[in-house]
Amino acid sequence: EIPNPPLPLANGGIKLVNDPAHPFIAAGPNDIRGPCPALNTLASHGYLPRNGVARPDQIVSAVMEGLNLGNDFAKFLAYQAFLMNGNPLTNLMSIGMKTPLTGPDPPKPALVGGLSQHGTFEGDTSMTRVDAFFGDQAVFNEDLFQKFIATSAKFGFNGTYDINAAAELRNDRLQDSIKTNPQLVFTSPRIISAYSEAVFPTIFFVDGRLNNRQLTIDAARYFFDFQMMPADFHRQPAPVNFTMVDPLTKAIFDKHPFSPGVNHGKNNFVLQPQTPPLADFCGIYEDIVLRVIPGQYPRPTGVLRQAINKNLGFFFGAVHAEHNCTQVFPFGRD
Ligand code: HEM
Ligand code: MG
Repeated sequence: EIPNPPLPLANGGIKLVNDPAHPFIAAGPNDIRGPCPALNTLASHGYLPRNGVARPDQIVSAVMEGLNLGNDFAKFLAYQAFLMNGNPLTNLMSIGMKTPLTGPDPPKPALVGGLSQHGTFEGDTSMTRVDAFFGDQAVFNEDLFQKFIATSAKFGFNGTYDINAAAELRNDRLQDSIKTNPQLVFTSPRIISAYSEAVFPTIFFVDGRLNNRQLTIDAARYFFDFQMMPADFHRQPAPVNFTMVDPLTKAIFDKHPFSPGVNHGKNNFVLQPQTPPLADFCGIYEDIVLRVIPGQYPRPTGVLRQAINKNLGFFFGAVHAEHNCTQVFPFGRD
């Protein structure tokens, strides 16, 4: 049975989350970590199973409890990722590389690749991970982190990673990949995560008692590199939903607007006007549901179809709450 998504937190206020009940334990050799600094950190503190294999509802609970994501926003991220990278038959997903721990796969072309699977949720121009063309797209990269520090020093208030630093770094990473990565893909759905993930650290990695949207390099080092909450870390003072994140995402986009495209060889960025732009949230929702997911599940039947439809419903529930999209049904209604 597939559990329903968790409800919003009963007590969504500020609290100490690096607490004695959630001690940091570094990942062991059999524990999986991946491209998301937040989920890696939550696994290392036991908000997620420490081995890095989790159900989508566990991911929703972990990001609500540990970082105070709003319920809708948490469901949007978790079910989107699960549909692209999880195993609908066992309801398990790896937060990093593909693993037999998620159980027997549905028939190909299903990937069940985990969050590290390139070209799904994971994509190019990440801030602290290299593009898959150049190497391991999931692992923290010190050279890129140095660029994160330098950009914060140049554009951020007092050298912090703030919204101005985020806008410049995001653009810089895109321009860099346009110049150097012959296989760059920068279209839906990657464009939406690229911009929201540039904003997230200015919100969720800042101690909720300060909550000034200025992430110190020290705290950034903890989350991105050590996969650890700073000592005494408190989560956001209230649940953070689309209403908080969307204007910040739009602000960094407006500083350096772009159109979706792909490289045909280095420095040859070809626009893809038929794909939805960042501003078309419902277009991206439809692109995920009608193109990306059927790419892995062209004609699901039986329990597989039922499970995917259930997760599509959970995903739409999150989208619907704050964006007025119309639900689409790639595999028919139940
Ligand atoms: C990156 C998944 C929540 C912060 C990523 C990536 C994935 C992912 C697949 C890799 C994308 C890429 O850079 O190519 C998820 C899922 C979540 C979640 C399924 C479920 C709720 C969060 C939260 C934060 C966060 C709550 C809060 C700070 C980030 C950041 C990156 C990232 C900053 C970019 C890393 C970089 O560019 O170097 N996430 N994430 N994520 N995630 Fe998460
Ligand atoms: Mg990436």
